[in-house]
Amino acid sequence: MVDGELAAAPSGVFALGGNVAVTRLGYGAMRITGPGIWGEPADRGEAIRVLRRAVELGVDFIDTADSYGPDVSEELIREALHPYDGITIATKGGLTRSGPDRWGQLGRPEYLRQCVEMSLRRLGLETIDLYQLHRIDPMVPAGDQVGALHEMRKEGKIRHIGLSEVSVPDIGEARLTAPIASVQNVYSLLDRRHEPVLEYCEREGLGFIPYGPIATGQLAGPGGPLSLLARQSGVAQVQLALAWLLRRSPVMLPIPGTGSVAHLEENVGAAQIELTDEQFSAMSGLARSLLPRPALPRALRPRRRQVAPPRLAGCPGAPSAELLAR
Ligand SMILES: NC(=O)c1ccc[n+]([C@@H]2O[C@H](COP(=O)([O-])OP(=O)(O)OC[C@H]3O[C@@H](n4cnc5c(N)ncnc54)[C@H](OP(=O)(O)O)[C@@H]3O)[C@@H](O)[C@H]2O)c1
Repeated sequence: MVDGELAAAPSGVFALGGNVAVTRLGYGAMRITGPGIWGEPADRGEAIRVLRRAVELGVDFIDTADSYGPDVSEELIREALHPYDGITIATKGGLTRSGPDRWGQLGRPEYLRQCVEMSLRRLGLETIDLYQLHRIDPMVPAGDQVGALHEMRKEGKIRHIGLSEVSVPDIGEARLTAPIASVQNVYSLLDRRHEPVLEYCEREGLGFIPYGPIATGQLAGPGGPLSLLARQSGVAQVQLALAWLLRRSPVMLPIPGTGSVAHLEENVGAAQIELTDEQFSAMSGLARSLLPRPALPRALRPRRRQVAPPRLAGCPGAPSAELLAR
């Protein structure tokens, strides 16, 4: 159980695009919708409580998309949090919805413009701090899709552009058209297929936003691959999984998703966990081997962090001369 103010703060700060500072441990708002990410959540009141509790706990980076619901997640965020004092809402567009669990891709520039305009209206914003292209539509030239977002960036409707589920060459191609501030790809202790993309983001100072950071719950439930280490260390599995991500890279911005206040509080508690070197390498080894029941070394109780890092000084993501010049 986490309590006290700004519990997320010890996770540190990252400056998206060099000038939008966010606390690294964020929240993913896909799970505050109905089954199949479709329609209203079963308990609307709990969804509102989750969003407000996240902010009370110092979470100031909230990920959403127009397609979550669709519309429902953005509408709930506005109802719970507008006018977003000090909070960064990162949304996405470029997907269509035709029913529960049904997703399509549509990257035509005029559709992306509509997506941005509608998200601005739903969220009650004049500028979206981070607007992410949910997927690069293979039927439309990538430069046209990123170019459409770049146009809206020049108009002041978008502050920074992000990409989602992309490869290193995709990012390189997109950067020929516009500055890119972040990448959101699937990544967790159990799924490290995008390690090269993470390394690219580290080198280039882009934020890496791992979606599915607790492997859609597999790293939280009983009997999961971290259960032995969790028992030995007295720390919840989900907190170990998130603490591993936070330690894995200073550009890592995990956005665990939940529709429950209790789960949110447990997840935010990960910011307070500092893994020992031994625990970190044991978990990295587990990630490499993907063994369901790894042999774990002697586990030590994680230390609690004592000092919250300063909000901006020396935080990763500081603007490069090249970025500032653009
Ligand atoms: N860019 C993309 O294409 C893309 C794709 C998928 C997701 N996303 C974003 O990434 C965010 C995170 O991904 P995700 O939500 O799919 O996966 P996730 O964060 O890895 O896992 C969420 C699942 O874990 C459960 N959970 C969360 N905390 C828990 C806890 N402490 N104990 C037990 N169970 C727990 C949640 O159920 P409860 O609700 O019951 O807690 C939910 O089913 C999303 O919310 C969304 O913002 C982006």
